[in-house]
Amino acid sequence: MKPVFHTCIENLKKKLIINDQLYRFDKERNELLQIVKRTTDFGESDSVIIIGPNKSGKSTLVDSVIKTLLPDSYTVVSLNGLIHTDDNLALKSIIQQLQMENLEGALVDGSFADNLHFLLESFRAGNRTASKSIIIILDKFDMFSSHSKQTLLYNVFDAVQSQQTPLCIIGLTSRIDVVELLEKRVKSRFSHNCIMLKPPTESNELLERLKCLLTIDKDCKVKSNISKKWNTNVELLIADSQTQELAEKLLKLSNNSTKLNMLIFMALSNLSEGEMLAVKDLTDSYNALYERDMILVHLLGLSVLELCLMISICHHSEIYDQEPFNFEMIYARYCKFASQNSTLLITKRQVVIKAFERISIMQLILPVAVAENKNVLREYRLYKCSISLDKVRTASNTYYRLPPIILQWIDSNII
Ligand SMILES: Nc1ncnc2c1ncn2[C@@H]1O[C@H](COP(=O)(O)OP(=O)(O)OP(=O)(O)O)[C@@H](O)[C@H]1O
Ligand SMILES: [Mg+2]
Repeated sequence: MKPVFHTCIENLKKKLIINDQLYRFDKERNELLQIVKRTTDFGESDSVIIIGPNKSGKSTLVDSVIKTLLPDSYTVVSLNGLIHTDDNLALKSIIQQLQMENLEGALVDGSFADNLHFLLESFRAGNRTASKSIIIILDKFDMFSSHSKQTLLYNVFDAVQSQQTPLCIIGLTSRIDVVELLEKRVKSRFSHNCIMLKPPTESNELLERLKCLLTIDKDCKVKSNISKKWNTNVELLIADSQTQELAEKLLKLSNNSTKLNMLIFMALSNLSEGEMLAVKDLTDSYNALYERDMILVHLLGLSVLELCLMISICHHSEIYDQEPFNFEMIYARYCKFASQNSTLLITKRQVVIKAFERISIMQLILPVAVAENKNVLREYRLYKCSISLDKVRTASNTYYRLPPIILQWIDSNII
């Protein structure tokens, strides 16, 4: 009887969705843990900046460290440079996250520094929370440096230096020159602890991660003989030269693990019951996700009206041997078709102009001589088509519920 791998697949998919296991970065994790623990265990304030490219695992690293701390020993305040775009917004959020809204009235008058100082003091003085340290996570740290006078950064780093409240500042950024962005008075208060996260550069590392994500752990509720079979198959899969090629291609595409996670998730989701994962599943998912014909994807994303305009454009280009066209020409061609078919609604001219503009924004048609076009009314601007009728035909054949009359129009004798 065929073993059923349904539970294996469910477990792996759950692991991918929860996605909270840190992979690699053991050294960096220990370094961060030491710094944070100094604050939570001994009350020594400190600051650190984690630098790494986008999606390299900065937030995952911080989460994995915070998870290991004793829950009663700290309070986390998370700020994001994209959300807290000025210092007052940031202060409001700090108040909310420290659950000290009742103090808000007492704050309004003083300067930012007084307010922050007062907040931290009050937090410390509360008898139940007296021993709690505060971990402030500043995501998109570089954006805080553009706030006027870097007041927030200055004050939090100053609070760290004065060592009155146990405080740990963790900055996350993808800018390698982040320290240079700090003003002199802020820089001098920063501890200069920087942790660099380097994304994988070798396909072996990616394969390791692939193996890790596909292996059934011991603590999963899967029968041992089934999980053993699954894991043996995974080992064979990793050793396969095609998988290695795939890992190299993926690494060239991007070195963050989000793409790998998506690939695995798709491959697992497409497996039918009783089947084990094969190289073909992985390559199929890779092709479906990352080697898609983007023009076709764009064409399938068009509305019916926009697709009709694309057909008119392609017809026009075929008849006039790729000569430029303007909106009026295409509109006339579209109206002729629409008026001959009672099943199609004639769309208002303004709406058609908008649809035409969207096609141009998507670069399915390209303006001829941009400088000349500037002084011309938009209906008379000249464009050239960058797509062949064949592509539009392929897209129309797979387009969901395209009226048959339009399909016939594509292949009709064009005049
Ligand atoms: N070393 C790793 N271990 C486990 N998962 C990782 C690792 N690196 C990245 N990931 C995964 O990649 C995705 C992005 O990670 P994360 O959000 O931590 O990156 P980030 O550097 O904080 O990104 P951003 O720059 O957008 O803030 C997450 O799904 C995460 O689980
Ligand atoms: Mg992040």
